[in-house]
Amino acid sequence: MAGRLDGRCGLVTGAGSGIGAATARRLRQDGAQVLTADLRGEVDLLLDVTARDAGKALIEAAMARFGRLDFVVPCAGVSAFCPLAGHSDDYFEQVMAVNVTAVFRLIRDAAPHLCASPAGRIVTIGSVTSAFGDAGLVAYGTSKHAVLGMTRALAGELGPHGVTANCVMPGAIDTPMTAPAFAAMPEYRTHWEQKAALGRLGQPEDIADVIAFLLSDDARFVTGQGWMVDGGAMTRM
Ligand SMILES: NC(=O)c1ccc[n+]([C@@H]2O[C@H](COP(=O)([O-])OP(=O)(O)OC[C@H]3O[C@@H](n4cnc5c(N)ncnc54)[C@H](O)[C@@H]3O)[C@@H](O)[C@H]2O)c1
Repeated sequence: MAGRLDGRCGLVTGAGSGIGAATARRLRQDGAQVLTADLRGEVDLLLDVTARDAGKALIEAAMARFGRLDFVVPCAGVSAFCPLAGHSDDYFEQVMAVNVTAVFRLIRDAAPHLCASPAGRIVTIGSVTSAFGDAGLVAYGTSKHAVLGMTRALAGELGPHGVTANCVMPGAIDTPMTAPAFAAMPEYRTHWEQKAALGRLGQPEDIADVIAFLLSDDARFVTGQGWMVDGGAMTRM
C-alpha cells in the first residue's frame, strides 16, 4: 500500500530521543526519506544545532542525499525547571539558542528548497507553554511563545510559495526531557496525568502522528496554526 509520504524528503532534528525519534520512525513508516540529526543517539548526523553553520550543513547533507527538500521538523529542544533567580544570562541565552535561534536559522536556510517543492512543509515544536505560563519555565515559555509566533509569520510569508507552516504544541509527554522532573517530583507526574482529560501522559507517538498528518496532503489547506496536543489538559484549568 502506498505510504502517504511516499517520495517526500526532509529533515528532523532532535531525532536521537523522544518526540524527534518517534517522528523520524513515523515518517519513514509513511514512506518519507528522513535525514536525522542530534547531539547524540542513533542519527545520521551528530551535530549541535546551535553551531552557526549547523542549518547549512544539514541542508547540504539533505540535498546531497535526496536532491530535494520537502519538509523540515526542528524538534531539538531543551527544558529544565529553573526558578527566575537561577535564570543567568547564559541559561536564558542557551535556551533561546536551541529552541529559537537554531530553529529560525534552519528554516531560513531551508526556505528556498521548500519553496521549490510542490508541497513544502514546516512543522515546528512549541508547547502548551506557547500559549500558557508555568512557574520555573520563564526562559522555556519565552522560547516556545517565540516558536509559535515564528511559525505564524512563516505561514504568511511562505504561503504564496505553497509552503505550509504549523506548530505542534505538546502537553506533558513521557520522554527523557520530562523524566528528571517526574522522577524528582512524582506528584508532578500525577498532576499532569490527572489534569489531562484523557487521563494519561502523552507518548512521543501521540505527537509524531500529528506531525505526520501535518506533513501529509490531508493537511494541504492548513497553515499558520498552533496544534495543542495535550490530551485535553488545558481544558481543565
Ligand atoms: N516532553 C514534553 O513534555 C514536551 C512538551 C512540550 C514540548 N516539547 C518539545 O518537544 C521537543 C522534543 O523534546 P522531547 O520531549 O522529545 O525531549 P528529548 O530530550 O527526549 O529530546 C530532545 C532532543 O534534542 C536534542 N538536542 C538538545 N539540544 C541540542 C543541540 N544543541 N543540538 C542538537 N540536538 C540537541 C537532545 O540531544 C535530545 O535528543 C522539544 O522541542 C521540546 O521542547 C516536549
